[in-house]
Amino acid sequence: MPSYPPEPFRIKVTESIRLIPAKEREARLQEAGYNVFSIKAEDIFIDMLTDSGTGAMSQDQWAALMRGDESYAGARSFYYLKAAVEDIFGFKHFVPTHQGRAAENILSAVLVKPGNSIPSNMHFDTTDANIRARGGRPTNLVIDRAFDTADHHPFKGNMDIGKLEAFIEETGVETIPFGMVTITNNAGGGQPVSMENLKAIAQVYRKHKIPFFIDSARYAENAYFIKLREKGYENKPVIEIAREMYGLADGMTMSAKKDAIVNIGGLLCMNDENLFQQVKNELILREGFPTYGGLAGRDLEAMAVGLYEGLDEAYLAYRLAQTAYLAERINTAGIPTIQPAGGHAVYLDAQAVLPHIPQAEFPGQALAVELYREGAIRGVEIGSVMFAHPDPDTGKMVHPKLELLRLAIPRRTYTQSHLDYVADCLVRIKERASTIRGYKFSYAPELLRHFTARFDPV
Ligand SMILES: Cc1ncc(COP(=O)(O)O)c(C=O)c1O
Repeated sequence: MPSYPPEPFRIKVTESIRLIPAKEREARLQEAGYNVFSIKAEDIFIDMLTDSGTGAMSQDQWAALMRGDESYAGARSFYYLKAAVEDIFGFKHFVPTHQGRAAENILSAVLVKPGNSIPSNMHFDTTDANIRARGGRPTNLVIDRAFDTADHHPFKGNMDIGKLEAFIEETGVETIPFGMVTITNNAGGGQPVSMENLKAIAQVYRKHKIPFFIDSARYAENAYFIKLREKGYENKPVIEIAREMYGLADGMTMSAKKDAIVNIGGLLCMNDENLFQQVKNELILREGFPTYGGLAGRDLEAMAVGLYEGLDEAYLAYRLAQTAYLAERINTAGIPTIQPAGGHAVYLDAQAVLPHIPQAEFPGQALAVELYREGAIRGVEIGSVMFAHPDPDTGKMVHPKLELLRLAIPRRTYTQSHLDYVADCLVRIKERASTIRGYKFSYAPELLRHFTARFDPV
């Protein structure tokens, strides 16, 4: 069992949580149409739905809120954030956005035309949906080993460079307005991308004059994995690893709700002047003036502080060890998770826990429901509910390769005993796994259906 590192912080403010009785949990599930997104947060005991915007801010971030300059244009807080963004990422231009998907929306609105393709290792759901909403085709070209949940490859988020070359050749550069990579690869288990792979991706995109954008939600965790696992980076400060990564790219989208440890915020950065002009126009239409981009001045201020805290190496060491600890405890209970443990979350192989439930009956969803039923714990399905879609050519349902339940760990929020409680609940679920049933939709919207779908037990 990996040792659980002492938290590199002490707790100054607390928030009570309450475990409601089993009968009430059952009623809440029924009211929610068996979709844990529809359960009130106060009826959740341990909330592992997401690590997005759910972290605890530091005393310095709270102090920064008070310094927020709420001027409509040219706020001091914007220039404070600008200095941090330039220092860490080094792009010539940037705009704040209210969160990551707003950056994706603006980039897609400006660059994606119907029929275009956007390659990546794996697009996250909001990126996928924003590209599709503009008539584009998001294409996932992660290495095949990413789909072997037991494989301990240290950089399972890597893009398959051969597949990327072949894809560009087949599709034609003229239909690829930009290319991406997601670090870490959330949809594939929070797995990192190596510096070597980032360099190879950049080289291919550059050769074909395809602008290279990095989806950077968990860039600091990715940089720390590089430090831990890639030869030559052992002694390099994480901030320098980050600078090296971004030196390879033409721009980035970022949900600051992850590694900038804020409750709301995002970034869209780029080097191209012409693109920046178009982005600003679209931003003004959708989000706000370019020096606040849909955020309050205080949010910009907290983000600037959080960007540096997210790169703190004592914090990152604790963070990645916390995830590894939970994964190890779950594995010891006989439940497989994606190996090795990702940065921000543990991904349970729901198909392996519930082999009797077919993909069309959503094994990941069934496990999510069961975890709430057992211990009022909330996770999220990352499988067929989220990603199955009709093939645009044949209309046939295409299921994802993996049926997962993701337990994301909010930053600086839960302690070891919370994680032990989660593991203990999973042990009990494993014991009665064969009695658990699948689900079918009673309602499902066309895009991003996992958020609002309702289910009936099969
Ligand atoms: C890799 C990745 N990209 C983009 C997003 C979207 O960010 P937001 O939720 O801030 O819109 C997320 C959110 O989870 C993500 O994990």
